[in-house]
Amino acid sequence: MKLATRISRISVSKTMAVMEAAIKLREQGIDVVDFGPGEPDFPTPDNVKQAGIRAIQENFTKYTAIGGIKELKKAIVEKHTRDFGSKYDISECVVNFGGKHALFNIFAAVVDEGDDVIIPTPYWVTFGDIARYVNANPIFLNTNESDGFRLTADLLARSLTPRTRMVVVNSPNNPSGAVLDNEEFGRIAKLCRDRDVFLLSDECYSHFLYDGRKPFSVASFTDLKSHIIIAGSISKTYAMTGWRIGYVLALPEIIAGIVKLQSHSTSNPTSISQKAALEALTGPQESVGIMLAEYAKRRKFVLERLRAIPGVKCAEPGGAFYAYPNISAAFGRGGIKDSVDFSAKLLEKVHVAVTPGEAFGTNDHVRMSYATSMEQLDKGLKRMHEFMAGL
Ligand SMILES: Cc1ncc(COP(=O)(O)O)c(C=O)c1O
Repeated sequence: MKLATRISRISVSKTMAVMEAAIKLREQGIDVVDFGPGEPDFPTPDNVKQAGIRAIQENFTKYTAIGGIKELKKAIVEKHTRDFGSKYDISECVVNFGGKHALFNIFAAVVDEGDDVIIPTPYWVTFGDIARYVNANPIFLNTNESDGFRLTADLLARSLTPRTRMVVVNSPNNPSGAVLDNEEFGRIAKLCRDRDVFLLSDECYSHFLYDGRKPFSVASFTDLKSHIIIAGSISKTYAMTGWRIGYVLALPEIIAGIVKLQSHSTSNPTSISQKAALEALTGPQESVGIMLAEYAKRRKFVLERLRAIPGVKCAEPGGAFYAYPNISAAFGRGGIKDSVDFSAKLLEKVHVAVTPGEAFGTNDHVRMSYATSMEQLDKGLKRMHEFMAGL
């Protein structure tokens, strides 16, 4: 059967393929250590769950305003100002079904067919496919592993052309954990403004920073606001991946375009989730710090253990909850040619699931999520060490 061309331009997320292979092995009773999932292993905080329950009990179960309830939009812009020093009015905010939906709607609202969208490598899989879906050209821009995979304004300046419509930055980054230097981020934003290009900043992991570094948003450069579009998500910060709430902060015209699209597609984000999100943003914040402290411990542990494996190199992830080790020392051994072979063999031989770097645009790496228990990390890293030593 012939499907629409726009659907054949995209493929199922490669991160899902690992998950499915690991599930199959588990179904056979095999003890798989899974470093695949990009979601917190913590439950949603209790006060947030209670707010959701209350919403149901109080019959807050009907349609809401398409772009989200006013209280939630107010909570989003006020928290963004408190955390980062940005300045947004509620007319510059729309609530979506998660960060992914926010990104999709941004592309749909501002990127035209044939436009170029610059996406630094390594990148989160979804950026390229959304660009393809809207019939734009994803232009992948290599960053250097020796610089910790950080984009710089100089690097970007060499890639901008009159066809460039948008630049996508995701800091802290999935998969590498790279965090842009704040000043450099400002230089990138200024360059985008000077060249009349939108800068889309995906802030999904904005609160996951280590070594005492403070959360930062490029929207704190308020004089550059005309060209900055923020895609936010509460999924990871509050362990709320299943509730599906994200948001966009941008000029009112862009927000109006997105609301128009939502009015004919999803309508409002789930009413119950909106109430839960309101509690997450305005209620006690202790759980965020508790989760972050646990991720920080795991990050240290994972880095030490990875770097102890002969041949493995790993750039220091400054944020998010992923490590992105270079495993190319294994190439040419045990029939392994690339990151896909490496991941397949690791799963087959020692039952450890990782995501091949090929999914993120680099072939010498694999992504390991440390959003799992210390016990699982210990077990999986031991197995990985033995696997590498036995090649
Ligand atoms: C970089 C990045 N952006 C956005 C998202 C979207 O998350 P959600 O749709 O759950 O808000 C993810 C999820 O994995 C992500 O890794």
